[in-house]
Amino acid sequence: HAEARYRAIVDTAVDAIVVIDRAGTLHSFNRAAERIFGYAAEEVIGRNVSMLMPDPDRSAHDGYLKRYHRTGERRIIGIGREVTGQRKDGSVFPLELSVAEWKADGEVRFTGIVRDITARRMAAEAELAAK
Ligand code: HEM
Repeated sequence: HAEARYRAIVDTAVDAIVVIDRAGTLHSFNRAAERIFGYAAEEVIGRNVSMLMPDPDRSAHDGYLKRYHRTGERRIIGIGREVTGQRKDGSVFPLELSVAEWKADGEVRFTGIVRDITARRMAAEAELAAK
């Protein structure tokens, strides 16, 4: 029951919900993630989360994870940040990223929640331009 309830929540979420392991390998990718990034889940599972962002973060993300494992210092986990994502078609977009850490059978997992904030950004810019 718990599993079915979990799947229903994840599948109907408006935000992308993405699970990675300590190395950044993608383990799950919900329907909203497919819509927001333009990839089918089976195209990304087993690949590195860095494929979802442009450089310089793309080349640096493995290093961000290593730094965190070495120091335990949280810079996004539990804090959140506005960053830039990249879709399958190569286009980039602003997103609000939240990350949580948990353990599955002793293995570290990170769940990332990604909200596409393109519309919010455009509205803010339009408001500034109108002033
Ligand atoms: C760290 C960017 C997606 C998990 C970071 C940092 C940046 C970043 C810039 C380093 C922060 C710093 O050192 O100041 C991005 C971008 C993403 C993305 C542009 C666009 C898709 C994700 C996702 C997850 C994730 C989806 C998890 C599923 C982490 C973790 C850290 C990290 C665990 C290290 C812990 C921390 O700094 O608190 N990311 N990230 N990232 N990211 Fe990502």
